[in-house]
Amino acid sequence: MRNQTGHVTRDSERFKPTPRGKKKKKRNLTRSVLIRPYLLVDPLNLDATLNAAKRYSTANPEYYQRPFSRVKSVAMAVPLAQTTLLFRTSLLSRNALRSFTTCIPSSSSSSSYSSSELHRKKWRQPVASVLEFGGVKIGREDVVRDDPTNNVPDSIFSRLGMQLHRRDQHPIGILKNAIYEYFDTSYSNTFDKFDNLCPIVSVKQNFDDVLVPADHVSRSYNDTYYIDSQTVLRCHTSAHQAELLRKGHTHFLVTGDVYRRDSIDSTHYPVFHQMEGVRVFQPDEWEASGMDATSYAAEDLKKCLEGLARHLFGAVEMRWIDAYFPFTNPSFELEIYFKEKWLEVLGCGVMEQEILKRAGRVNNVAWAFGLGLERLAMVLFDIPDIRLFWSNDERFTSQFSKGQLGIKFKPFSKYPPCYKDMSFWINESFTENNLCEIVRGVAGDLAEEVLLIDNFTNKKGMTSHCYRIAYRSMERSLTDEEINELQWNVRDQVQSKLNVVLR
Ligand code: DAH
Repeated sequence: MRNQTGHVTRDSERFKPTPRGKKKKKRNLTRSVLIRPYLLVDPLNLDATLNAAKRYSTANPEYYQRPFSRVKSVAMAVPLAQTTLLFRTSLLSRNALRSFTTCIPSSSSSSSYSSSELHRKKWRQPVASVLEFGGVKIGREDVVRDDPTNNVPDSIFSRLGMQLHRRDQHPIGILKNAIYEYFDTSYSNTFDKFDNLCPIVSVKQNFDDVLVPADHVSRSYNDTYYIDSQTVLRCHTSAHQAELLRKGHTHFLVTGDVYRRDSIDSTHYPVFHQMEGVRVFQPDEWEASGMDATSYAAEDLKKCLEGLARHLFGAVEMRWIDAYFPFTNPSFELEIYFKEKWLEVLGCGVMEQEILKRAGRVNNVAWAFGLGLERLAMVLFDIPDIRLFWSNDERFTSQFSKGQLGIKFKPFSKYPPCYKDMSFWINESFTENNLCEIVRGVAGDLAEEVLLIDNFTNKKGMTSHCYRIAYRSMERSLTDEEINELQWNVRDQVQSKLNVVLR
């Protein structure tokens, strides 16, 4: 939808919204705890971070910013071209990185469970005790620690190592392979592929190396999972750009699971999958064209990604949006018109020279892109809820096969949701992400949505929130008894861990 200034507003997803863009979702009330574009926060100081978040959200209630991107301006229409979809599987899967610098400091674990935790484990995936990435072993105690700088819960650890993107029969793996196939065919297998890089990275890799400002909101404890003050679960695959460039790679794709603290609804899950692409050019490549280096790279990037979108979606209408990312300049987002809606497909741009310079590539120019696999897979396979990607239910898993991108998911019976409301007086440090973490910790994937339905401040300046939690299993009917138990558990933990006063 265009507004009077010709700018585009639209639904936001993982990569972005903008202060000037639309709200994340129309809700019956303004969300009072929002993710801010820029905050002066110290990621090592949880209280300061949370207080800054609170101050910002009070001052900017209409903004909802996800990490990294801000849209700058509109679009340009891209002509349609007729192509057919190809359904071959990837020809090559070369160069999986077999070694990487591990950044896991050793420490002791705190692994005793309370009875309620044991109870909820019934509904969880088993937590593997040791995981392996590219030959490096990781134990639970490397990730979940009783340490004030650690905010990784067991529910997140249980997802580490699942690597949905490496399963050829899983929608995420099928999509990854279809993208590989596009690059292999269009670029004669010149792109190196990495899909087994360790998701545990340093703060430097995740943020500094890609020029994320020191005060950027994505660094906060509220948004990112910290293992310790210098180590995080990567929140984007861009975390690997600099290292791979330094190692001499000039054409590469990195696919992996990424982690973000987030709200709960059908399109948001704290673990999802991204693919990063980078291509470096040498001076002779753009010199011959008579174009300047940046325009040459930007043009090549757009051509490449329009081709990718057609490979995945067929002949679709597309448009480019000017955007902002710390790591690229200029930056763009690609949207396609699909089922009567503009859908954001990816973020991209011409890599900041500083990143290339630090990697020892002073005379080069490069493009980069990052795309979220879940949101594309939800559209391509008609998958209505992001939790389904994690389901082991045969009624889900048996519907997909290797190389079959076009298959539409047929929902098996839909079980009824159960709603529970909870009201409390919030305090200075309350954030919705912290609440959602508790709900996920207790209910796991039975938590379908957490929605703020009432929000007011009384004469004494005390603010009350009422949240409606929707519980629903994708696989079975829930009993009243178990939902009540979950809800009591949530109430207990909200009170004790968030220090709010239940009403
Ligand atoms: N890392 C960005 C995100 O997670 C996505 C992205 C945008 C990656 C632009 C890129 C890029 O490489 O150039 O929101």
